[in-house]
Amino acid sequence: MPQEAGDDPATMVPTSDDPYLVRGNVTLSDGDGNLIERGTRYTLCRCGHSGNKPFCDNSHVLAGFTAP
Ligand code: FES
Repeated sequence: MPQEAGDDPATMVPTSDDPYLVRGNVTLSDGDGNLIERGTRYTLCRCGHSGNKPFCDNSHVLAGFTAP
């Protein structure tokens, strides 16, 4: 039986000293449950320096972020 598009599990992969790569049908919401965006591909900030949180804007490069 074929799976529906929304049945595939999403994945979230930390990259070496770079953002999280998220793939799959994902709904992003803030801490209050308000919708940010629905999509299938994201790069999410893990350094805390992005000016466009929760998304990575490559500020991690200038900040010299290194993953713990
Ligand atoms: S990980 Fe890229 S701006 Fe934070």
